[in-house]
Amino acid sequence: MSTSKRKKFYVTTPIYYGTAKPHLGSLYSTLLADFVARWNKLKGNDVFFLTGTDEHGQKIADAAQKVGKDPKEFVDSFVNDYKKTWQAYEIDYTKFIRTTDDYHVKAVQQWIRDLQQKGDIYKSMYEGWYCTPCETFVTAKDIPVRPELVEGSPNGSPRCPSCSRETHKVHEETYFFKLSAYQDKLLEFYKNNPDWVVPKERLNEVIAFVKSGLKDLSISRTTVKWGIPFPDDNEHVAYVWADALNNYITAIGYGQEKFKKDFAKWWPADLQIMGKDIIRFHAIYWPAFLMASDLPLPKKLLVHGWIKIGEQKMSKSLGNVVDPMNLLKAYGADPVRYYLIRKMAITHDSPFSIQDLEQTITSDLANDLGNLLSRMVSLADKHGIYELLAPKTWSADALKLQGECVSAVKDFYTYMDEYNFHMALARLWKYINQVNAFFHSHEPWKLVKTDRDTFLEILCATAQSLRTVGLLLWPAMPNKMEKLLKSIGVVFSLDHNTIEELELCNWNHNFMLTKIPPLFVKPEVKKVTEQPKEQEKKAAPVDDIITIDAVAKIQLLVGTIDHCEEVAESEKLLKMTVNFGEKGTRQIFAGIKKQYTPEDLIGKQSVFVYNLKPRKMMGMESQGMMLLAKDADGKLQRIAPVEKVENGTRLC
Ligand code: MSP
Repeated sequence: MSTSKRKKFYVTTPIYYGTAKPHLGSLYSTLLADFVARWNKLKGNDVFFLTGTDEHGQKIADAAQKVGKDPKEFVDSFVNDYKKTWQAYEIDYTKFIRTTDDYHVKAVQQWIRDLQQKGDIYKSMYEGWYCTPCETFVTAKDIPVRPELVEGSPNGSPRCPSCSRETHKVHEETYFFKLSAYQDKLLEFYKNNPDWVVPKERLNEVIAFVKSGLKDLSISRTTVKWGIPFPDDNEHVAYVWADALNNYITAIGYGQEKFKKDFAKWWPADLQIMGKDIIRFHAIYWPAFLMASDLPLPKKLLVHGWIKIGEQKMSKSLGNVVDPMNLLKAYGADPVRYYLIRKMAITHDSPFSIQDLEQTITSDLANDLGNLLSRMVSLADKHGIYELLAPKTWSADALKLQGECVSAVKDFYTYMDEYNFHMALARLWKYINQVNAFFHSHEPWKLVKTDRDTFLEILCATAQSLRTVGLLLWPAMPNKMEKLLKSIGVVFSLDHNTIEELELCNWNHNFMLTKIPPLFVKPEVKKVTEQPKEQEKKAAPVDDIITIDAVAKIQLLVGTIDHCEEVAESEKLLKMTVNFGEKGTRQIFAGIKKQYTPEDLIGKQSVFVYNLKPRKMMGMESQGMMLLAKDADGKLQRIAPVEKVENGTRLC
C-alpha cells in the first residue's frame, strides 16, 4: 500500500512509575495497546505506539532514598526490567519515553512558559492534603461526600480516596494551573462527545466530578526536589502529573522545532489506554492542559478495569503482584497474551488465577485451535499431500462453513470497533468450534479411501478457515500465529489491508502444508514430562530428619501487623507490633526493609514463630520471628494464609 494512502494511528499507554518491576497489571495496559496497534497494522495503517516510564516525584525520591540510591540510578534498573519484559512479551512499541529524557524536560519547561505567558499558570499559596503513593491532592470536595475518609485517622488528615492511605498536610507556595477556567469548556466537550470514553459509563463519574466544581490545580512543589525545575524559578519543580501527562505530546516532537512535522502528523492521539484508577487525570486535567495549549484532544480514551487476585486489586503495595516473567517461563508469551485479552473484560475488574490460565491454555489453545491445525496437517502428511488447491466450486457443506466464516468475521470486526476485545476472541472461538465440528463430522480419515475429492475439499475448507483465524489472531498471538500461517504456507505480510481482504472471505487460496511441533503445550502435559526431575529431587536424602514431636514444639501462629516502622539505625530492620488475638501483641523485628515498606505490611496477616526465645536486635527485644521465603530473584516474601483467619490461629 502506498504510504500516502495509509491512515495514521497513534496509541499510548500510561507511563509506569519507575519504582518497581512491571507486574501483570502493567503488562495488561501495555498488551491492550500492542493488541490495538497490531490490529491497525493489519489494516495497513501507519502506527505509532508509545509507552514509557514516569520517573519524577516524591514517590520515586522516597523509594530511592530507602535503598540509598540516587533517584535516576534507582529508576534505571527498573526501566531495564520494563524493556526486557515488553520485549519478551512481543510488545512492539515505536518509542519508549522516560520523563527524565532531556527533550521531554525541555518541552515541559517550554509548555510551562507558554501557559505562564497566557496567564493560565500563576503563583499563589497552597494548603491541603497530599497522597504521595498516588501523587495526588485530596481536595476538600472529597471529604463532605465521603466522611469515611477522615474516620479513624489519628491526625485528622483524610485518607486518599484512591488507595485509602493517610495523606499529609501540604502548606507551600505553588504555581497553579487555572483549571477552574476550563470547567464549562470540559462539560461542553463531554456533552458533544458522549463516546469519548470507552466504556461510556466511566465518563459519567468524570462529568459528576467536574460539575461539582473544579478548583485551580497546584502544579508545582517546593518541598519536592526530584522533578522538572520550573523555568526561571528553580525553587519549584513541576507536579509529577503535569510533567507525566505531557509525555504524550513531547514524545512525538511537541516543543521541538525540528519535529514540528512529526508532531502535526501524529497528534491528536487516536487512542489513549489506561486503568480506571487514573481516568480523572486523563479525562479532566489532560484535556484542560491541551485546551490551554490550543491543541486538539485525544480522539478516544480506553479505560480498563483491574486485574484482581481474589477480592483485591493486584498491586505492589498490597504485596499480591504476579510477575509476568514467571508466567512467561512457565507458559510462554503468547498463551499469557491470549489469556489476558480473552479473559479480562475491559469493562470490569477481572480475577486472575493460575488454574484458570492453565485451563484456558488447555481448552482454547491446545485442544480447540492447536489440535485442529495438527490433525489437518498430520492427516494430509500421512497421505502424502502437501499442496491444497482451492476447488472451483464448493459443496453445500463447505459453503455453509464459509457462511459461518463471513458471519464470524463480521461480528469480530463489530466487537473490535467497540473495543470489546474479549468478546471478539470469544466469537472467533465459536467459529473455531464450528470448523472443528465440520472437520470431525466429515471423518476425512475415512473419506481418503472412498472419496478423495471430498477428502481434499474438507482439508482445504479447514485450511481456508485456519488462514482467517490465524490472521485475525495475529494481534493477540503474533509469534504463534505466524507459525500457524507458515505451516499452511501463508506468507504473512503487513503491506496491504488484511482486514478488508478477510471481510470478502474469498476462499480462493491455495496452501502448502508443513508439519510442525504442537503449537501449544497443555500445562498438565508439561508438568508430567517434568515429573522425573521432581521425583529425583524427592528421592534425594534429607539431612536432619526430625520427628513429628519436634514439629509440634514449634508454635507457628498467624498474626496481624497492627503497626510497623523502620528502624532508622538499621539498613535491614523493620519493627512490627503483631496482634495474636487472645494471645496478645508482640514486638517483632524482621530484616525486610529492602523488600517492604511499613505501609506494605500494616493491616496484613503473616505467619510468625511465637515461642522463640526473645532476642535483642539493635538493643531492643524481638519477641518472635516472621517466616519468609526467598523467591527466584533472592527477594524475601512473607508467608500468609490465603484467606483471612482469626489472629492467633496456630498452623497445623
Ligand atoms: N505513572 C502513572 C501514570 C501516568 S500516565 C501519564 C501511573 N503509573 S502506574 O504504574 O501506577 O500504573 C500504570 C497503569 O497500570 C495504569 O493504567 C493502571 O491502571 C495499570 N495497573 C496497575 N495495576 C493494575 C491492575 N491490578 N490491573 C490492571 N491494571 C492496573 O499510574
